Amino acid sequence: RGPDPYSPTGQEEDVTPEERAQGGDRLTTAQGLRLADTDHSLKAGPRGPVLLQDHHLREKVMHFDHERIPERVVHARGAAAHGVFRSYGTAASVTRAAFLAKGVETPVFVRFSTVLGSRGSADTVRDTRGFATKFYTDEGVFDLVGNNIPVFFIQDAIKFPDVIHAAKPHPDREIPQAQSAHDTFWDFVSLHTEATHHTLWNMSDRGIPRSYRTMEGFGVHTFRLVDAEGATTLVKFHWKPKAGVHSLVWEEAQLIGGADPDFHRRDLADAIEAGAHPQWELGIQVLPDTPEQTFEGIDLLDPTKIVPEELAPVQPIGLLTLNANPVNYFAETEQVAFHVGHLVPGIDVTDDPLLAGRLFSYLDTQITRLGGPNFGQIPINRTHAPVNDMLRDGFHQDAVHAGVAPYKPNSLDGGCPFFAGAHEGGYVETPVRVAAARKVREAPASFADHFSQPRLFWLSLSPVEREHVIAAYTFELGKVYEQAIKERNLRVLAEIDPYLCEQVAQGLGLPVPKPVNSLPAVDPSPALSQVGRTWPTT
Ligand code: HEM
Repeated sequence: RGPDPYSPTGQEEDVTPEERAQGGDRLTTAQGLRLADTDHSLKAGPRGPVLLQDHHLREKVMHFDHERIPERVVHARGAAAHGVFRSYGTAASVTRAAFLAKGVETPVFVRFSTVLGSRGSADTVRDTRGFATKFYTDEGVFDLVGNNIPVFFIQDAIKFPDVIHAAKPHPDREIPQAQSAHDTFWDFVSLHTEATHHTLWNMSDRGIPRSYRTMEGFGVHTFRLVDAEGATTLVKFHWKPKAGVHSLVWEEAQLIGGADPDFHRRDLADAIEAGAHPQWELGIQVLPDTPEQTFEGIDLLDPTKIVPEELAPVQPIGLLTLNANPVNYFAETEQVAFHVGHLVPGIDVTDDPLLAGRLFSYLDTQITRLGGPNFGQIPINRTHAPVNDMLRDGFHQDAVHAGVAPYKPNSLDGGCPFFAGAHEGGYVETPVRVAAARKVREAPASFADHFSQPRLFWLSLSPVEREHVIAAYTFELGKVYEQAIKERNLRVLAEIDPYLCEQVAQGLGLPVPKPVNSLPAVDPSPALSQVGRTWPTT
């Protein structure tokens, strides 16, 4: 029993969540009426017709009929855990976020997921993995909604429905359920070559992680941190697993997918139950907030680009420990609602056009998925900070709001004639300058480079990792029906590396295309040889 953040007076809830759920030795209806029998319908005689007046029968069947809610439109399959985040205090010089002050402990809920498969699909498929963390801070909820791959397929959210339509199962046969081996996916990524970098990571061993416990996580976009004086810094967020980064090999993934399609969720839950609590360090790459928002020539607003760790080392700022499994999958893992717009003072977004679309999309989809606008009141989504909003009514409204004047300022509800806002610690968007510009539907010129970073990633791989990539492309493209799509993808590979292209072409029995652009020389210095390749700190 604890303070109810939706109670106007902050009073304690009158029933605990446990009391609301099943417990005790009496079986009742939803109205609390004690039942004598739940196995027989009310009938006119033992062999007679069932009577409509049987309320218990109707309530029981009606409720069962409505048990399912829509699965997430992406990231439908997931597994989650509770934990705690302990801040080292090392970010305190660049952000005023209270939960990043030294020694502060913040409860968290983390949901891992695959992206493309349905809720019942297998865990070990080749796919990107979601890594979403909800921090229940004293200043409100902060969500870091990231993936295990540091870049994304597209640079502008307006293409998100397109890339997902291309990557989800074909609309006619609903094949394939969970893997990328199909014509529409390969059609899309070869026509929108900004997808090359993410696709290459997917085809590498990063696409088939050994365990959620051995995955890195990335915030992907560049975020803006703000310190107590209002000074700003650009950052990229990284999660580094204490257990190290490990992947399956393809044959293992295939065998496990057949023998135990729940492999990753079982592994996570078993580890936590056994007391082997998984841990990650949160780190940031700290980048100056210049008007150009570039770093060493890399456009920080382009989510298809990383900043090599050799150019901006990841600095650890805190430790995440997952220490408790959810009690109920539906209540917690299924109903949790993350949002990149859930920010706290000291953390702000940037103008990355992919991030802008996400700021709209999550709230919007959750209205449908969670049945109306009040999903913030579902226990797993509740902030641990006091709530005093002006949001009223709507489906599934749980709060009993007091007062007659749901607007601010007002002179009726016991004072509060003035709106106590920013000057008392409220969230203030960073007043960054927005260039006076004409309206355009255009991408900046810096977004046009689609191949230099995939090439650096390829060059950073060891020989055996490269062979895995070649085998993955050969297998996946081998499943494509249209020869023209295979050939177009080979032309993309020719822009990354001649050996990669040649090997995959040979595997497919197709001619090797020449690159359209001559490959610029890549700096082979050790500083860049590890690009995109990050190692655990322990
Ligand atoms: C769900 C990550 C881009 C729309 C998710 C989830 C993650 C994620 C981790 C699962 C959250 C959970 O466990 O409940 C990312 C990353 C992106 C990205 C890292 C790029 C950097 C986008 C874009 C859009 C989008 C561009 C739309 C414009 C959605 C939607 C969901 C989702 C609709 C389902 C949310 C729900 O039903 O609660 N994303 N995403 N995502 N994402 Fe993204």
